[in-house]
This record gives sequence, C-alpha cells and structure tokens, in this order.
Amino acid sequence: MLLPDIRKTCVISLSNQSKALVTGAAGFIGSNLVDALLANGKTVIGLDNMFNGHVENLDSALKSPKFELVKGDIRDMDMLLDIMKGVDVVYHEAAFTSVSQSVKTPQLCNDINVTGTLNVLNAARIRDVRRVVFASSSAVYGDSPVLPKTEEMPLKPISPYGVSKVAAEAYCIAYHQTYGLKTVALRYFNVFGPRQKDSPYSGVISIFISKILQGNSPTIYGDGTQSRDFIYVKDVVKANVLAAASEKAVGKAINVASGKPTTMNDLTRLMLKICKKEHLKILYEDKRPGDILHSYGDTMLARSALDFSPDYDVARGLEDLIKLTGKKSI
Ligand SMILES: NC(=O)c1ccc[n+]([C@@H]2O[C@H](COP(=O)([O-])OP(=O)(O)OC[C@H]3O[C@@H](n4cnc5c(N)ncnc54)[C@H](O)[C@@H]3O)[C@@H](O)[C@H]2O)c1
Repeated sequence: MLLPDIRKTCVISLSNQSKALVTGAAGFIGSNLVDALLANGKTVIGLDNMFNGHVENLDSALKSPKFELVKGDIRDMDMLLDIMKGVDVVYHEAAFTSVSQSVKTPQLCNDINVTGTLNVLNAARIRDVRRVVFASSSAVYGDSPVLPKTEEMPLKPISPYGVSKVAAEAYCIAYHQTYGLKTVALRYFNVFGPRQKDSPYSGVISIFISKILQGNSPTIYGDGTQSRDFIYVKDVVKANVLAAASEKAVGKAINVASGKPTTMNDLTRLMLKICKKEHLKILYEDKRPGDILHSYGDTMLARSALDFSPDYDVARGLEDLIKLTGKKSI
C-alpha cells in the first residue's frame, strides 16, 4: 500500500478536531493503541517511518474515517510541527526498539530515541499539546538484582537502548518542570500480545507460540528458572489511556507491569497447555551471556498515580492471544 507523503497530506481531513497522535502507529503496541482509541471514538493520526512497522497492523484503523496514517520520521521537526496542529494528546511509541541492535548502532539508537523524543517534546510544547505519554522501558533498571524494581531505584541501564530510554524519560520530566508540558513516562515491562512479530528481536512469547502451533518444540536458553514480568498489550493500552487523563501521573515515570514474576518454565508449560500441545518436549540450551536472571516491577505507583491494575494475568493474556492467532486476525 502506498502511504501519503507527509508534506502533501498534513492531516487535512482531520483538522479542527481534538486529536490524538500515536507515533510508532504501525508497530506492535502503537497499532493496538490506535485501534483502542478509535474504538473509544477518538480521532487519531498515526505516524510511522515504517522502519519496523507494518501497514497491515493498521488494516482495521485505515477503514475508519477518523484515522489518518502519515509516513514520516520523528527526526523531522518540521513534519512534527505540521502534524501536531490541533493535537490534544501525543502517545509517543516510536523508537529504535532492539536492545541487541542498539549495541551495534548506538548513534542511530540515540538519534531516534533521544533526539527524536526531544523533537516530539519540542513540537508538543510549541503546539500546546495537553499531554505527552512516553513509552519508556524496564531496561532503565539494567541488571540490578534488587526486586521488585521500584521507580525510586537508581537507574543503571546496561545497553545503549536502556541509556536512550533514561535520557528520553529525563527530558520528559524536565520538560514538565521547565516548561509546564504535561508528560508521563510509562516503563513497560515485557509486553506481549497480537501483532508482536516473531522476529529474533521480539518477545519470546510470539516466537514460542508460532513454534508450538507448528508442532515444534520450544527452546529455552538456560534452565528455565529465569523469570520476567509479562504484561498483556491490552493492559499497556489501558495504562496509556489512564496516563493521558490522570493529573497525579504528570511529571512521573511509572512502571507498567503485572507485579508478578513468571518463570520461563511456567510460561512455556502454560503455552503448551493452552495450545493443547502438552506432548511437545521443552528443549534447553546454554544460557545466553548477559541474560538477566529475574525481573519484575513494583506496581504501587501505577495504582496510586494511574489507578491502574492489569485486567489480564499471563494465562488470560495467552488465551486471548492464542485465540486471536488461531483466527489469524492478528
Ligand atoms: N514490546 C515491549 O515489550 C516493550 C517493552 C518496553 C518498552 N517498549 C517501548 O514501547 C514502544 C513500542 O514498542 P513496540 O514493541 O511496539 O515496537 P515496534 O518496533 O513494533 O514499534 C515501534 C514503531 O516505531 C516506528 N519507528 C521507528 N523509528 C521511527 C522513527 N524514527 N520515526 C517514526 N517511526 C519510527 C517503527 O517503524 C515501528 O512501527 C517503543 O518505544 C519501545 O521501546 C516496548
């Protein structure tokens, strides 16, 4: 599908309405957010440079007269100023998202995640945007063994990606303190759900589900006792919507987590059970260097500042995802 050239389109049809802008709209989380905002009756502009996005993720959104997709890059300040005219809330999801690639090209990661976010904040300030919700990451905590990860902990990122999220968060908070721009940074833990592509860089869940549904055994690196905090994408969307409205959240960085660790062994057994493939053997390979053993987030601040608690536990999220995968509607 051909996307409109930003300079020519510039959101003509959606002007003079209260609008949301979702950056990274064609990505995993961005596209789920776009669908939910449209379902709530909002008018939405989706921005994506298609670096890692897929226009099919927006198949349903593109049928809505309240949605416009713009192909553009958050490193392009003039374009941002153009599309933010009349925008009420910016949900900033666009990013260089691969931790391993960030080690290979730290400069590019910085340009997109730090300078790009700074552009988004500057344009939002100039265009009097009411709220900016920024997608940060639990990668800001690095490999600290302290559990659960609380927002007050010292941040010790270990990858260029983690550093870029710390810097971008700090800009969000400073823009609130210095210019009064209302920003909220959400530190997502391990998000899973429909449209997470099973590329080597994406979540383990979509990779395992594809394998299991094809009748292949999943392979765990290490002994499977390592744990993560998995949060379903529909809950991440809910946290974003709450963050756009809550006054208590302004100027803060807040964990978006389930608050519960799930081991790789438990997660894999659950997937085998839900897919009715319990006969498949789980394979084990050597642990990968640098893998963090355990991580889960504290959820107190999300509860007090956002009134957020997840609707989906891992099992319910997996059931929903596997049902959707089976229907091929993702
Ligand atoms: N998926 C997770 O588990 C997770 C965890 C923590 C944080 N996050 C953060 O959430 C956000 C969304 O992640 P995702 O998993 O949906 O990733 P994704 O890669 O599916 O989506 C990111 C989107 O941003 C777009 N993009 C990249 N560079 C851009 C640029 N310069 N200009 C415009 N668009 C650009 C990509 O094309 C892609 O569609 C990211 O900021 C990511 O760092 C995700």
